[in-house]
Amino acid sequence: MKYILISEVEKSDNQEVLLKAWVFNFRSSGKIYFLQLRDGSGRIQAVISKDSVAAEVWQNCENLTIESSVEVSGKVYADQRSASGYEMQVSDLRIIQRSEEYPIGKKEHGVDFLLDHRHLWLRAERQTAIIKIRDEIIWLMRSFFRNKGFILTDTPILTSTSSEGTTTLFSTDYFDETAYLSQSGQLYLEALAMSLGRVYDFGPTFRAEKSKTRRHMMEFWMLDAEAAFMQHEQNIELQEELIVYVVSGILKNKLTELDILQRDVAGLKKVKAPFTRLKYEEAVKQLKKLGSDIKMGNDLGADDETILMKEYDQPLFITHYPAAIKAFYMQPDPDNPDVVLCNDLLAPEGYGEIIGGSERIWDLKLLQKKFKEHKLPTKEFEWYFDLRRYGSVPHSGFGIGLERTVAWLCGLDHVRETIPFPRLLNRLRP
Ligand code: 4AD
Ligand code: MG
Repeated sequence: MKYILISEVEKSDNQEVLLKAWVFNFRSSGKIYFLQLRDGSGRIQAVISKDSVAAEVWQNCENLTIESSVEVSGKVYADQRSASGYEMQVSDLRIIQRSEEYPIGKKEHGVDFLLDHRHLWLRAERQTAIIKIRDEIIWLMRSFFRNKGFILTDTPILTSTSSEGTTTLFSTDYFDETAYLSQSGQLYLEALAMSLGRVYDFGPTFRAEKSKTRRHMMEFWMLDAEAAFMQHEQNIELQEELIVYVVSGILKNKLTELDILQRDVAGLKKVKAPFTRLKYEEAVKQLKKLGSDIKMGNDLGADDETILMKEYDQPLFITHYPAAIKAFYMQPDPDNPDVVLCNDLLAPEGYGEIIGGSERIWDLKLLQKKFKEHKLPTKEFEWYFDLRRYGSVPHSGFGIGLERTVAWLCGLDHVRETIPFPRLLNRLRP
């Protein structure tokens, strides 16, 4: 008997095949068993009639429990009533392992219970839909950059310094010194941009942020992109193009999954370039009008982003933040050196920041001055200064957070479901 995946049943219409799967639900009328099977590739209903199988096979059915793993063989055929469009008439069933009583039942569970059982919760249809959309977003981002001639390069996770401020560093012993887990590959990517021109990295990043919000994780995946000779304006256009590409790709390729998540896609369909741009100063004024207690000069909090993004049905760029609240490496605005040529991109529908980017300081003297102001250890950054000594050029880049992008596109109210095993404040297990 030919073993096939559930996703392949169409090609075996009206043939006898073997499926290997898990029973995620079943019911019996006494004479007929209806099994709901899943194998990762898809879901199908399998029907077993007492009259048409051996006594031993019927016995196996009566032994079934939720999440038991099975091998079933029989004929598959099209059936309009089934969700997958196909059904199997079973002729043989063997239990691979009879599951113990499955802890995740049909009743509602609290989110802590589900997170404690994350290794099992991942089998739920909703969770698999999210993971498939996450996978698609990654492929779309990669193909976007590949089409644009960006080279994928890898930046280190173990580093000797901080790139985004020293308050959120995870440290670990590195023989007789201390290493820090990377907060962003950006600084290394700048070195690679001076070699390859256009580059990006994609990997896990770490922030020891004591924030318990619906958009903060301790470990998250970031794609950083960096290009030599690219300046503020082109940087923004690149981000715009990336977002339009990813959103339209998801709408094209992942409608089934969006449907499982009951994602109302009307908001996503509106995403079209150009996105609105607001300078930081205008954004703060608008926030005050909307009732926020933000003060001019302070960074936008997560709540501010949510309030602001209730007003926009398109992603929104906020640019020209005060230098004082942004990272040391950002290029001052030539028209007003108190602000920097940077941007955050906020997602609509109340989602908030998904991208942070900027033009980088490329003049050695100015960079060294910023180091003094930020009281950074110049010794650790000699290699970074070298980039400004040997053929320095204007350059820019940005980083997009994968989990926040997944949360937005899937319409989730928290990032905890956007990664298989979330690392949150007070959650390191499973
Ligand atoms: O704005 P951030 O801090 O920018 C950087 O790290 C730059 N070095 C990137 C660059 O220019 N190459 O982080 C970028 C993005 C954020 O917009 C957000 O989407 C995500 O990373 N992010 C987080 N996601 C989840 N949990 C956290 N704690 C996050 N911190 C940042
Ligand atoms: Mg940011």
